[in-house]
Amino acid sequence: MSYTYVLLEKEEGIGVLTINRPEALNALDVNVLEDLRRAIGDIAGDDAIQVLIITGAGEKSFVAGADIKFMQPLTPVEGRAFGMVGQRVFRELEKLEKPVIAAVNGFCLGGGCELAMAADIRLASEKAKFGQPEVGLGITPGHGGTQRLPRVAGVEAALEMITSGDPVSAAKAKEMGIIDEITEGDLKKAAIAYAKRVIDEQLPLRRVSQLEAKLDTPTVFEDFAKRNARKFRGFLAPYKCIEAVKAATELSFPEGMKREREIFVELQASDQSKALRHVFFAEREVVRIPGLPEDQPTRDIKSVGIIGAGTMGGGIAMCFANAGIPVYLLDVSQEFLDKGMATIKKNYANTVSKGRLTQEEMGKRMSLIKPTLSYDDLKDVDLVIEAVFEDMNIKKEVFKKLDTVCKPGAILASNTSYLNINEIASVTKRPEDVMGMHFFSPANVMRLLENVRGEKTSPEVYATAMKIGRKIGKIPVLVGVCDGFVGNRMLAQRTRECAFMLEEGALPWQIDKVIYDFGFPMGPFAMADLAGLDVGWRNRKAKFDQLTEREKRCNILDKICEMGRFGQKTGAGYYKYDEKRNPTPDPLIEELIINHSKEVGIERREIGDQEIIERAIYSMINEGAKILEEGIAARPLDIDIVWIYGYGFPRYRGGPMFYADLVGLNKIYEAILKYREAVGPEYWTPSPLLEKLVKEGKGFYSK
Ligand code: CAA
Repeated sequence: MSYTYVLLEKEEGIGVLTINRPEALNALDVNVLEDLRRAIGDIAGDDAIQVLIITGAGEKSFVAGADIKFMQPLTPVEGRAFGMVGQRVFRELEKLEKPVIAAVNGFCLGGGCELAMAADIRLASEKAKFGQPEVGLGITPGHGGTQRLPRVAGVEAALEMITSGDPVSAAKAKEMGIIDEITEGDLKKAAIAYAKRVIDEQLPLRRVSQLEAKLDTPTVFEDFAKRNARKFRGFLAPYKCIEAVKAATELSFPEGMKREREIFVELQASDQSKALRHVFFAEREVVRIPGLPEDQPTRDIKSVGIIGAGTMGGGIAMCFANAGIPVYLLDVSQEFLDKGMATIKKNYANTVSKGRLTQEEMGKRMSLIKPTLSYDDLKDVDLVIEAVFEDMNIKKEVFKKLDTVCKPGAILASNTSYLNINEIASVTKRPEDVMGMHFFSPANVMRLLENVRGEKTSPEVYATAMKIGRKIGKIPVLVGVCDGFVGNRMLAQRTRECAFMLEEGALPWQIDKVIYDFGFPMGPFAMADLAGLDVGWRNRKAKFDQLTEREKRCNILDKICEMGRFGQKTGAGYYKYDEKRNPTPDPLIEELIINHSKEVGIERREIGDQEIIERAIYSMINEGAKILEEGIAARPLDIDIVWIYGYGFPRYRGGPMFYADLVGLNKIYEAILKYREAVGPEYWTPSPLLEKLVKEGKGFYSK
């Protein structure tokens, strides 16, 4: 009886089977399953074992699910085989003629939760976490979770857990009926004591598959889908998960397992699942900076200064206070400070009223933010983030001051969304300590942080920014200096093409619908109205001299702003808004656009949905390729993460660069050539990298 991935110990009639792959959080691949299968066979024939305890090695995890790295390259046939093997091994465990106790010592997710449910009794340590996160990878649970969970926790609770993917605490799992007991102290000892009780009292077997998945209301599935329609929009897996759970209520256990397998295989081969698995790894990879060693030294950030108490500065201050880091919030007048602090207080109070923060915790966080008018207060902070008006001269003044006030070794960062970090750094005597830290609005909510490395920024400094970014709950992405960095530089392509399409024949609500249906939370014009049209207008005026003739002529935005329509905040922009800020298309804007086309001599034509997708999205992909070529982003995954977390690119499409691979780069390339003819080479010249990849028949992610 020798195994590689499991350990079997025996003592006084009790067998303890430990999944032994702690370095991979005990994730299951075929090798682990094969060892499990052999061990179960051995245990079945071993009279010295009367009760079996199954647990996970290490402190952190029972089993963190199927091994996603192993699953990543599986073909549909291999995926089917893997699903089948898992189901079968867990079924064999359930069929053992001896009681099985799962002693859940940590993460019990996906295949792990399914394994635990194949046991008769489930005990857990207080820190254990239970969940079926497969939906986040675009699949259903594939080792019996959709059939067993509704049997132990009830249909509604199972639907919620399987379609949300959110894990629950041990206490919650107990409340839901998933586990029998939570143990304090040594779990293994408690499990052995329980096993002895099972032997002494001859407790009966309790097989989950023999329970019934009861239906309280016949319309539960339809109601659930309806209630969650907004959350599930665009995603395939949640609906398939509902279908699989429904099977548990309609079919016998073996038939239900078969149905689960079919659905699992179908999803596993889907583009959505490929994209979501890509995002799972990209999110983890993005913080590893190519060229930097794992043990790269970083600096301690114990206190922070923020310059500018406006919307952005206040939001950034909240991020640090939320992580328990004290902040000085500096502005030039008491009035601005009072206003900024009042907004922060209102935001926190909102969270408290929603029950997501206690009054006490709010008090703690507020006390960590100290308003100040004096730069002297910043002399000991470890990091300063400037969030003043987007004006190079003002920023330079601030950085000169910071350079004289701040202690040596303090990191000086700018929250600029497009200005040149190298130029800002040049006014200091420590350009190696200067970088960009570009938060997205609202800064206390949006997860993306674009960390901008200047020409002279030292590795220690940007490695620190990456680390502190994670500490404050952001997804930090390291990028280089260029106008707009990664996100806004690509966005500018989409903005331009959408404006051109307006003058060629489209209307804002038509474009918005296509982009919304593509999976973005809102279309570009609705987004512009939300952000405030004056922002884009100011930016356009500042850069007017650099625009092409056609861009200058395409002045629909100017015309709307000149009417005092700045978007939601003024009750009208591209759309008009009611008091609740619900948008409606405005005939006045339609007329304005049609007149504009006439004035500039463009005969309006029908613009199809496919053209909108191509011009809005492919233009960004082409720019993304240029960004890669120039080394502004190190890898395509950095761009994908920027777009998913900063701009709401649909996660199930994997980000723009992954999506490009799914579409096929040759198709994107052909479309670019078509628009080069139709719109002009100044906007639509294929990036040499894209051209090269197409010639080689490769994608951005080809090895
Ligand atoms: N497969 C492969 N590797 C995994 C893994 C899994 N299921 N779970 C975690 N890992 C790896 C991570 O990739 C990471 O590796 P690196 O250090 O090389 O980057 C390492 O384990 C540590 O993970 P995290 O950095 O994510 O650690 P954390 O403490 O932040 O989070 C966690 C721990 C909550 C378990 C998180 O890792 C997680 O959510 N894992 C995925 C869980 C999951 O989705 N399981 C379902 C798998 S699908 C399935 O089970 C299908 C089925 O039914 C057949």
